[in-house]
Formats: sequence, C-alpha cells, structure tokens
Amino acid sequence: MSTLKSTLDTTGPEYAAYREAMLAKLDELEAEHAKAVAGGGEKYTARHRERGKLLVRERIELLLDEDAPFLELSPLAGWGSDFRVGASVVTGIGVVSGVECMIIGNDPTVRGGASNPWTTRKIFRAADIALENRLPVINLVESGGADLPTQKEIFIPGGRLFRDLTRLSAAGIPTVALVFGNSTAGGAYVPGMSDYVVMIEERSKVFLGGPPLVKMATGEESDDEALGGAAMHARVSGLADYLARDEPDALRLGRRIVARLNWRKHGPAPAPATEPRYDPEELLGVVPEGLKVPFDPREVLARVVDGSEFDEFKPEYGNSLVTGWARVHGYPVGVLANARGILFSEESQKAAQFIQLANQTDTPLLFLHNTTGYMVGRDYEQGGIIKHGAMMINAVSNSKVPHLSVLIGASYGAGHYGMCGRAYDPRFLFAWPSAKSAVMGPQQLAGVLSIVARAAAESRGQPFDEAADTAMREAVEAQVEAESLPMFLSGRLYDDGVIDPRDTRTVLGLCLSAIHNNPVRGAQFDGTGFGVFRM
Ligand code: COA
Repeated sequence: MSTLKSTLDTTGPEYAAYREAMLAKLDELEAEHAKAVAGGGEKYTARHRERGKLLVRERIELLLDEDAPFLELSPLAGWGSDFRVGASVVTGIGVVSGVECMIIGNDPTVRGGASNPWTTRKIFRAADIALENRLPVINLVESGGADLPTQKEIFIPGGRLFRDLTRLSAAGIPTVALVFGNSTAGGAYVPGMSDYVVMIEERSKVFLGGPPLVKMATGEESDDEALGGAAMHARVSGLADYLARDEPDALRLGRRIVARLNWRKHGPAPAPATEPRYDPEELLGVVPEGLKVPFDPREVLARVVDGSEFDEFKPEYGNSLVTGWARVHGYPVGVLANARGILFSEESQKAAQFIQLANQTDTPLLFLHNTTGYMVGRDYEQGGIIKHGAMMINAVSNSKVPHLSVLIGASYGAGHYGMCGRAYDPRFLFAWPSAKSAVMGPQQLAGVLSIVARAAAESRGQPFDEAADTAMREAVEAQVEAESLPMFLSGRLYDDGVIDPRDTRTVLGLCLSAIHNNPVRGAQFDGTGFGVFRM
C-alpha cells in the first residue's frame, strides 16, 4: 500500500493567501445558501407558522433518523434567475428508518410552493438520481401547482414529474407522498401516482379543480372538504391510504411506511474505513486563487481518501493526469485527477486504459477536474490528439461503473467532457467554490472572437475598429467569467451543488453509499467482447 506524502507548506504565505481567498468564496456561498433556507422570506414564513405548520426543512428533520446526515442537492437552483434561490423545493438524500431515501419537499412559503421552470428541473434531477441509485422517494407535498405566469416553460415538460413517479415504481423503487396541504390540479397526480399516500385531517387538499373551477366548469356548488379533504380521500375515494392527525403524525406514518419496505441494498458493503492522515481543513489552502498556477491533486487525495492510501497507476507516463486506486469511506474508487491542467495524447490514452480497468473490476470512478482542455497546436494535431481525446471520451461515455465528478479547479473545453462533465451522466457532480467551467477561458474566448472579427474586416476590405474591439473583449471576458462561476452553473442545475472543500470526503461517502443501493457493475468483461485495450 502506498501512502501519499504531503509537501503542502501550511506555514507559507501562499497557503495563507489561497486559504483566505477560499474562505471569502465560502462566505459568499453561505450567503446564497442562506437565501434558499429563508424560503419565501419573513412575511410568508410567519404566516405559515401562524397557520400552525412546520417549515419544509423542519418536516425533513423530523422525517429523518435522529442525527442522520442530509445530502442536500441543487440548493442554488434558480440562482441568477427571477425566482428565489432554491426554486421553492428542497431535495436531497437522507436516511429514514435506516433506508437512504430521496426526499422532495415543496416550500410552501415561496409563491404557495408553486413550481417554476427551475423547480421542475430540480425535481427531474432528483428523480433521475433516485432511479439510477435505487432510492425510495418521499414527496412532502404542499404546492400551488404550476407557477402560472411561466406555465409555457413548464406545462409540457412538467408532465415528466408524474411519469417519473410511476416509472420509479415500475423499477421496484417505492414512492411515498405525505400531503401537508394543497396538491391541486396537476399536483394531484403526485399522490395520484405514488405507491403510498398519507393525508392530514383538515389540512390536505387534493383535487383536480377547486370549488371555483368546479363552479365554472359544471355549475356545481362544493366545498374543499367534500371535493378533496383528507377524511374524504381516506374514507370515500380511497386515494389516501393513511389518515394522519397532524404533521408530526404524518411524518411518523411516513417513517413506518419506509420501515416496512424491507429494503436491502444490492451493492457490496464497504470495507472498514480509516480517516485520511492529513487534516481536511488544509484543503482550503491547496487551490491557487485564479487557477493560474498548477497544483498537485495528490494534495487533495491525501485529505480525502481512506488512510491517504493511493496506489498510483502509470505514475511515470502522461503525468499531467494522475490515475490510481483508493477507497473513500471503505468504498473502492479509481481516481482520475488532472495535475498540470492540459490533457495530451499520453494522458488521454492513459485515461482510456484506466477506465477500462475500472470496468473490468466493477470499481466506481472519481474524476477530479482541473483541466484547461486537450492540447492544441501543429505537433499535437499531427500526433493525433483528436483520436486520443476521442478514445478517452469514448471510454468515459461507454463506461458502466458509477462515476463521480468534482470540479475543484478549471473544467474547460472538451476536457470537461473527457473528465465526465454533466453531459456524460456522472451519478453525482459537485463543484468547489474555486471551480470554473466554460468552453474555454474568458481571455482566450474574447481573443478568438477578436481574431475572427479582424479577419472578417480584412476580407471585406474594411478598417478594423480597435477601440470597439477592446471594449468588446472586455465585455465578453467579464460575461464569460461570470458565466463560468460555480454559483451561476449551479443555479442552472449543471451540478448537484457547490460544496465546502472540507466536506468533500463526507459528500463522496454519502454518494458512494447511495450508489451502492444498486449493484455496481462495469461494462461486460465476460469473454464475449474484447479485453482491455492497452494504449
Ligand atoms: N402560480 C404563481 N403564483 C402563485 C401560485 C401559482 N400557481 N399560487 C400561489 N401563487 C402566489 C400568490 O399569487 C401569492 O403571491 P403574492 O403574495 O405576491 O400575492 C403567493 O404565491 C402566496 O399565495 P397565497 O394564495 O397567498 O398563499 P396561500 O398559502 O394562502 O394559498 C394556494 C396557497 C396554493 C392554495 C393558493 O395560492 C392557490 O390556490 N393557488 C393557485 C393554485 C392553482 O390553481 N394552481 C394551478 C395548478 S396547475
């Protein structure tokens, strides 16, 4: 077993400066997370409490096992949009009656819990995670349905919400709806499509159309209770399987339902785990601010993997990509981590070979991103960089073991793809506050636009406006820089959250544990295909 030896100078000025910069970014992040926690703000929170109701996060806390962790997902959804940060729903993985479940809770303090375009995307992502990782789903329902002013963005794609529930059920993944309040119109299909439904006396209201709509449609006079009250659904329509007295009772019933699922994880159990030999606190000072200077990802691994033990594969070859085997919380992982930023032909081939090896041994892969992309230039093109990058992208696309991605630094260009970016369906993808992701760096992008514009002016025989070009470059640089930042990308659901570097090991452990609800299988190496291609 090889143990990583850190050479990080935690007493030097660089470490102090990087740490300072990371802490400042974490403060900004905390302020945005606080917005999600504040939901609809003081006025709506106070009104909700006056009605004798629990806030969505309190509901989740009471649902979870005592002291169980909750891995919140996409807390910044909607950041930078016209909607509240968090998108009026809380999603995450938590342990209920000993079972890891996907929890989806509407926040009724935000526009009545109505779903806007970011809400639906966030719920789709939660449903995908539940399906891929075989996690029972618990919906905590209280929502005004579709956000009516933006209905054009959600009505048609939004049908997936209900489809996903029944497909989960068909895949053998139980779904539970605990209805705390309104669940009207399309929203009625959340309990409608769930395997188990709990409603609360005099609180839950589940109908396709409320009294005014019924009056308009058929002229019938009706009231909430007769149309969709909990007692009616428990005793007359049969839509409610359980009638709860109050909110804590509904949460208790939810816990009992999960306890009776007789849930068993299908993946291998973890080995006993040891803590890393180096303090995760030091992760704050590893990444240089501005990402101009390369850093050694082994310094990250030394503070993330079990016992800081890492068996490096091909350490002498293609060494701007580090590959090797480790464990995180007792789960084996193969690691691919960018070292000096650029992916050359050697690194690409090494990655393709390594990914095949992980598939041969059913070992999940962890990608630590800090890449500016594949190398460009005459020599590299002539050396076949496109073919070699394609091998890596082919391997990552067709690899069948679970993938985890963490953007710790840059993640630019096709390097983002080869390192299992969002479009390559990693089971989970998180970013550190230091991450940046775009088609290329902002300066390079602005420079390319400028060169293209200059050439176009020349070919038209027109003079080139230097002042306008300088202004354009500055504007484009600023725009691309802002659009590469983790809060912006997280707001658009391009990751599952921005995390504190110090939490990396815990977050990865929770993800790996969730993943192991399903069997872990690589692409088939069963004698019917090819062996591992040496590259
Ligand atoms: N779309 C957009 N905004 C909505 C909304 C929706 N579906 N539902 C509620 N809101 C807004 C309200 O306009 C209100 O905004 P304001 O405070 O700026 O005036 C805010 O959310 C809170 O709504 P309010 O009615 O005061 O809250 P409530 O807790 O008393 O009632 C509901 C919540 C959901 C019962 C009620 O708002 C409602 O019936 N909404 C419409 C439900 C519906 O028919 N949806 C169609 C689904 S397809």
